[in-house]
Amino acid sequence: MPDFKLAQRIAELPPYLFAQIDAVKREVAARGVDIISLGIGDPDLPTPDFIIDKLAESARKAPNHRYPDYEGMLSFRTAVATWYKQRFDVDLNPATEVVSLIGSKEGIAHFPLAFTNPGDMNLVCTPNYPVYPIATKFAGGEVEFVPLTEDNAYLPDLDAISDESWAKAKSIYLNYPNNPTAGVADDAFFEKLIKKCIETETIIVHDAAYTEIYFDPANKPKSIMEYAGAKEVAIEFHSLSKTYNMTGWRVAMAVGNATLVGGLGKVKTNVDSGIFQAVQEAGIAALEQGEPYAEKFRGIYRERRDAVVAALRKAGIKCPLPDASFYIWANVPEGYNSSDFVTKVIQETGVVLTPGNGFGAPGEGYFRISLTVPTERLEEAVSRIASL
Ligand SMILES: Cc1ncc(COP(=O)(O)O)c(C=O)c1O
Repeated sequence: MPDFKLAQRIAELPPYLFAQIDAVKREVAARGVDIISLGIGDPDLPTPDFIIDKLAESARKAPNHRYPDYEGMLSFRTAVATWYKQRFDVDLNPATEVVSLIGSKEGIAHFPLAFTNPGDMNLVCTPNYPVYPIATKFAGGEVEFVPLTEDNAYLPDLDAISDESWAKAKSIYLNYPNNPTAGVADDAFFEKLIKKCIETETIIVHDAAYTEIYFDPANKPKSIMEYAGAKEVAIEFHSLSKTYNMTGWRVAMAVGNATLVGGLGKVKTNVDSGIFQAVQEAGIAALEQGEPYAEKFRGIYRERRDAVVAALRKAGIKCPLPDASFYIWANVPEGYNSSDFVTKVIQETGVVLTPGNGFGAPGEGYFRISLTVPTERLEEAVSRIASL
């Protein structure tokens, strides 16, 4: 038998920190324990019926059975531009400043192939969605991590990044509202970031997947595209996944600077053949008519958030009340590190949490709860944790 060796880029992937948790979870489940999984950022609520109906109708149209346009149907990209205008008051040219994606993960993973040469360095804010550094490494680039800490409200300290690093960096990867910390960015931060990136010719890669999961309608999370100068340097990734409970559908978009959007489009032309057109038509329906449903989902997450935060605090566990995202980022109790605490909780209570350090070193000392299970189960989970 030939001895096939994994390519270096795969062989060198960091060990999967959640693998140990998965193993413990399997062992506990095998004992017959009722597992409550608070580990997955995947909405439990179903996709609204009107979107499913549109898919069914569109799936019956024969022209939709053929290869779609690579960059996405112009009608889908126009619906994205219209949604950005209504939601953020941002003007986008659907032909040049919007590209459709098979989920934002796909676009984020492919983006460095367009703008990162072997040996180039990208800044990645951490704790982070794991795709950011891995995509840079797949493109042969190097990563310099920028810590997000509680002291700095989970915003990167742009002044702490050295001049050499700014000069060297091709891109900076950020995500607000943030997974996993639930941090949100304010105007002053985005303005300073854009100014710095224009000065240093650094691409801003902003992942905005959670802008629609917010709890204060008077203070909605913003798109980076709302700020002056953003279109000179930024690409923003967004998705229908979290907003309309469509994670399995694989439909998303990147918008912003036409060169950046176009470069990503070129990669995709050579890698995939776009999103099933019936899914794009269902996506248009979601963007055009989904807002009342998104509002209803926010109400459900708000109730869950309030219940969990109150119960955790009652149990003596420190955690902020998040303004956005469906995550609670809490401190592990004194005397534990993230992995020890999460392992003990699964073993002794059957509740699955995510260890903060799984998202990067500055996540040590924290754990993440995902609000994607019903309130009663969340309350049951926290009461089990409290009984430890
Ligand atoms: C921060 C962040 N970005 C992007 C994604 C990917 O979303 P999708 O590929 O479904 O659009 C996720 C999914 O969990 C996420 O948490």
